Amino acid sequence: MPVERTLSIVKPDGVRRNQIGEVYRRFEGAGLRIVAARMLQLTTSQAELFYEVHRGRPFYGDLVRYMSSGPVVAQVLEGEDAIARNRQIMGATDPKKAVPGTIRADLAESIEANVVHGSDSPETAVREIAFFFSTTELCPRA
Ligand code: CMP
Repeated sequence: MPVERTLSIVKPDGVRRNQIGEVYRRFEGAGLRIVAARMLQLTTSQAELFYEVHRGRPFYGDLVRYMSSGPVVAQVLEGEDAIARNRQIMGATDPKKAVPGTIRADLAESIEANVVHGSDSPETAVREIAFFFSTTELCPRA
């Protein structure tokens, strides 16, 4: 399996509810390595740009408002098949449809306040990692 990198975000609800450690525990427990991390509060324009692909969808305005409503923690996860593995650990976007044992099934409040975001493809991962981190901020580990 290829070693990949993916962009993950602990969303404002996860930070507000003190779930950063629990989310990191699940990533590390599944063998993913955190190779970059930072906490920040997105501006409206940053959130609009990050979720550009959803512009025009009915939930876009609420999503942008929500993602800029409080601090988030962005991290780069590295490991074999990291993109798909992270998506398995997160579970379905809608927590009502997520499998028990996944982050969203266990911790999320709603489809909007769903604790985490993760890149959905290698192309998206490259774009989303570059959105938050420069190459020199990534610390690959053996
Ligand atoms: P995320 O993986 O961050 O990608 C886009 C986000 O939009 C998604 O998680 C959800 O939190 C949010 N969202 C809100 N409503 C919907 C919806 N109806 N369908 C998909 N995503 C939604």
